[in-house]
Amino acid sequence: MSEPLQTSCDLMLFGALGNLAQKKLFPALYQLDRSGLLAPGSRILAIARRDISVEELRAELMSRLEAEVTAEEFDLNLAGLFVSRVDYQRLDFTDTEGYLSLNAWHDSGSQLIIYMATPPMMYGVIARNLRAHRCCTARTRVVVEKPIGHDLESSKVINDELAEVYHENQLFRIDHYLGKETVQNLIALRFANNLFASQWDQNHISHVEITVAESTGIGGRWGYFDQAGQIRDMVQNHLLQLLCLIAMDPPADLSADSLRDEKVKVLKALKKITPDMMEQYVVRGQYSGGASNGKVVQGYLEEEGADKSSETETFVALKVEIDNWRWSGVPFYIRTGKRMPEKMSQIIIHFKPAPHYIFDPDQKHLANNKLIIRLQPDEGMTLKILTKENGLDKGMRLRQSPLELTFSETFAADRIPNAYERLLWEIMRGNQYLFVRRDEVEHAWRWVDQIIQNWRDSGEPPKRYAAGTWGPVASIAMITRDGRSWYEDA
Ligand SMILES: NC(=O)c1ccc[n+]([C@@H]2O[C@H](COP(=O)([O-])OP(=O)(O)OC[C@H]3O[C@@H](n4cnc5c(N)ncnc54)[C@H](OP(=O)(O)O)[C@@H]3O)[C@@H](O)[C@H]2O)c1
Repeated sequence: MSEPLQTSCDLMLFGALGNLAQKKLFPALYQLDRSGLLAPGSRILAIARRDISVEELRAELMSRLEAEVTAEEFDLNLAGLFVSRVDYQRLDFTDTEGYLSLNAWHDSGSQLIIYMATPPMMYGVIARNLRAHRCCTARTRVVVEKPIGHDLESSKVINDELAEVYHENQLFRIDHYLGKETVQNLIALRFANNLFASQWDQNHISHVEITVAESTGIGGRWGYFDQAGQIRDMVQNHLLQLLCLIAMDPPADLSADSLRDEKVKVLKALKKITPDMMEQYVVRGQYSGGASNGKVVQGYLEEEGADKSSETETFVALKVEIDNWRWSGVPFYIRTGKRMPEKMSQIIIHFKPAPHYIFDPDQKHLANNKLIIRLQPDEGMTLKILTKENGLDKGMRLRQSPLELTFSETFAADRIPNAYERLLWEIMRGNQYLFVRRDEVEHAWRWVDQIIQNWRDSGEPPKRYAAGTWGPVASIAMITRDGRSWYEDA
């Protein structure tokens, strides 16, 4: 990836025994260490409230790493060296006195990073306690996870609590989609290739689709998810971030604020969805029983711990319009749901057809280029272009041919780092360009809140869809009304 850092890092990891830390953060830190990117002397303080010894924690981490990384990537010696960087501090985050020992652990010559892999309501408590015990300076970097609140007001409370202790340029708000290789490739594709830069507007693009589909249901997370729903859990952050990266104007440079200024302009230009627009612009769904991967599965209301009267959405499809010169008249159709037929995230840019068509009339429907950007599975891009069918008997029959770029095949020698590796690396380098600024979070909530308010006011329940399908038929009707179809239906 890059040159190792010269300055060592002290990483305090709050919530170190939680799901995120165990499944994503420790494996990502191990990968960075394996690549030689952790500066010598870098250390990790795992902070949690379980009563275990550091030896027990290190043994657990060894098994965890073996389970989470591939057999080729797991090296017993390297993993042993990595876990020897890890110390353990037992602490209830609300216990003010317990923070005393944290100050003693930190070596002031190292870059201090505080990672709050905890419920968001803990961010303010931890920040205040760290300040009270002088465990942070103006150089400290602080990492927080989504969700930042559940609406605009609650996000302001969390952001205010953080702002009481830290300056905005110390805060790294994670949206892990921004760490994905393809998402950064989107920036390269748009701004390093004039071929695309010159075509990226309402003159050349007819519409854009973004799909983020999960095949799983809610599993054991029913209580957490039911408070949020798909629009808060996925649209407010991941899907709007993707939309911003597609729609933003070219930034003046790659600095964090140039990039984030442009994203904010897009969020501000999102057309408000008023109550009278809801039927045409928004589809809200909840899965009922059906089949997933060949197995019969329960509906959302039959999942373990479910409240049978819940009206929380597990699917949402939206027609989004952006009120500016570049995108006037270009709808962005976005959808995301649980219990879809497959796990898949992709963006499709549909280009307009050529102004005058001269080939077989019955092939006219083929005549628009598409750029398909896959985030998962198989990160990569495909450009669908039109060529002629081979053969003397084919005349000038057209076919859509793919120009294919599957990263894992094309760059087989290069390992694709996962999103958390990239993000942790950027945090250690102090680069905020892949992290979400406060005003982005708040503009995104402002836009999403009005849709949630419209749902509340109408009292209309979500539409049912069978597990293992692409959501309520109304989402197909939404795009069909405009004479289009979702890509996999085409
Ligand atoms: N998991 C993911 O893949 C993922 C993805 C995106 C965002 N996030 C976000 O990342 C954060 C962490 O998620 P998670 O899935 O790791 O949650 P989690 O498994 O519940 O982990 C949170 C940890 O915080 C600890 N904790 C909570 N209150 C505490 C207190 N007062 N004192 C000491 N420890 C306390 C919990 O300890 P106990 O175990 O003792 O209760 C738990 O280990 C959340 O904000 C979540 O929304 C997670």
